[in-house]
Amino acid sequence: MPTQQSSGLNKDGSASSRPDDAVSDLMADHRKVEDLFKQYEKAGDNAEKKQRLVAQITHELRVHMAIEEEIFYPASRDFVESDMVNEAEVEHQGAKTLMEELEGMSPEDEYYDAKVKVLQEQIEHHVEEEETEYFPACRKSEMDLKGIADQMESRKAELASAA
Ligand SMILES: [Fe+2]
Ligand SMILES: [Fe+2]
Repeated sequence: MPTQQSSGLNKDGSASSRPDDAVSDLMADHRKVEDLFKQYEKAGDNAEKKQRLVAQITHELRVHMAIEEEIFYPASRDFVESDMVNEAEVEHQGAKTLMEELEGMSPEDEYYDAKVKVLQEQIEHHVEEEETEYFPACRKSEMDLKGIADQMESRKAELASAA
C-alpha cells in the first residue's frame, strides 16, 4: 500500500511515529489548508483565482472542523483536559463566522484580503495549539486513534459527496 508522504509528518517536518492514526490524518488536513492559504498569498490581483481558493479553503475547513467536532473532539473528552477541547470548539466558531462573512463578499471588496489574512492567522494559531498541546496529549493517552481514524474517514467521504 503506498503511504501518503504528507500524512505522516509533524508540523516541523519530522516523521510521525504513527502514520495511520487520527492525529496524522488531521495534521495532513492542516498542511493542505496551509498550502491553500500560501497559494492565496501569491494570487495577487487575480480575483477569480482568489475566489476559487477561498471556496477551497472554506470547504476544506468545514469538512475538517465537522469531523473534529463530531468525532475526534468528543472521543477525546475522556482523555484530555476539557478546557482544551472547549477552547478548540470556540476557535472553530470564530473561524466559521469569518468564513460566512467572506462568502458574502467579493474579492474586489476592500476588506476581502484582510478577512482572508485574519482567517489564516486564526487558523494558524488554532493548528499550533492542536499540534503542540491537544494532539500530543491525545497521543499520550489510551485513545483509539486508529478506530477514530476509520470513523473520520467514512464521515469525511459522506461530507465530501454531499458538497
Ligand atoms: Fe484541526
Ligand atoms: Fe480544530
